[in-house]
Amino acid sequence: MEQKIKKIGVLTSGGDAPGMNAAIRAVVRAGIHYGLEVYGIEDGFLGLVKGDKYIKPMCRGSVTDIITRGGTTLGTARLKEFQEIPMTQKGIDNLKALGIDALVTIGGDGTFYAAERMSRLGMPCVSIPGTIDNDIASTDYTIGFDTAVNTAVEAIDKLRDTSNSHQRCTIVEVMGRYCGDIALAVAVATGAEIVVTSKETFDIQKILEEAKTCKELNKRHAIFIISENITDVHALAKQVEEYSGFSSRATVLSHIQRGGSPSAKDRILASQFGLLAVEALINGKSNITLGFIDNKFVEIPIKEALQMKRNKFLRFEEIMHILS
Ligand code: F6P
Repeated sequence: MEQKIKKIGVLTSGGDAPGMNAAIRAVVRAGIHYGLEVYGIEDGFLGLVKGDKYIKPMCRGSVTDIITRGGTTLGTARLKEFQEIPMTQKGIDNLKALGIDALVTIGGDGTFYAAERMSRLGMPCVSIPGTIDNDIASTDYTIGFDTAVNTAVEAIDKLRDTSNSHQRCTIVEVMGRYCGDIALAVAVATGAEIVVTSKETFDIQKILEEAKTCKELNKRHAIFIISENITDVHALAKQVEEYSGFSSRATVLSHIQRGGSPSAKDRILASQFGLLAVEALINGKSNITLGFIDNKFVEIPIKEALQMKRNKFLRFEEIMHILS
């Protein structure tokens, strides 16, 4: 049977995530393996709309040595305007002008929406979930989550040393946008006393009482993990200290969680997703995202994926509460 797809593009979009480079490498090399021409689009949908020199042919050598590197060598951007149909159409036209007949998009939910629209408008897309937030319900793990968690854990282990020396409570704000997965995983892995993953579950009195209890128990340190976009952690540290007498300091880990060499787990997942994305396009699939659920790779229509809701880390809060 004649292979319909001959040229594919690959881009990364939204917040960068460690492991995106491993995914780019996998798409490029799998594409070449299957006899396709592969183009790399720089700076995500921004480069796609600009076209021309932002869309470059890739060879095996283009992705040499990138499996170990954090960030995305293709560059990325957040482009709200791409939601507008004329802008989306412009991107598709730029691909078609080069004879590119399908696209692999690597990113989070914003990227999913764009890939969904492009697929509907006639450019077959397969999306790979890549974001540190793990806020994509159609996969147990997104590319970058594992590395971000490890980065945060390493930082908090260091904070524990100083916290322990000074008998302090350490309040740490982690990323995740509006998803508590990083906070939950980090809390279990660091043996934290408290985790807060949403505004709705933020209970100031509970936090103050926990700090007081830790102080009364003569704990040398305590670790409270708070997701971003919930409260001002520096003000919270002051409140905790005043109420409980437990000396407190806050640390915002911020973008440090997005950088660094990807973990082996992220590199492996990215390599698997990259190969599967190319195979899906060759098999005529479009408007789908890849996922990894219960140890199996799955293909899910993007629209469906965007509506899914799952609680991935069952009993994590209970685990840390019992064990801390
Ligand atoms: O989506 C990844 C992420 O790092 C979120 O955790 C965070 O809320 C956001 O991106 C920060 O975005 P920016 O880098 O544009 O400030």
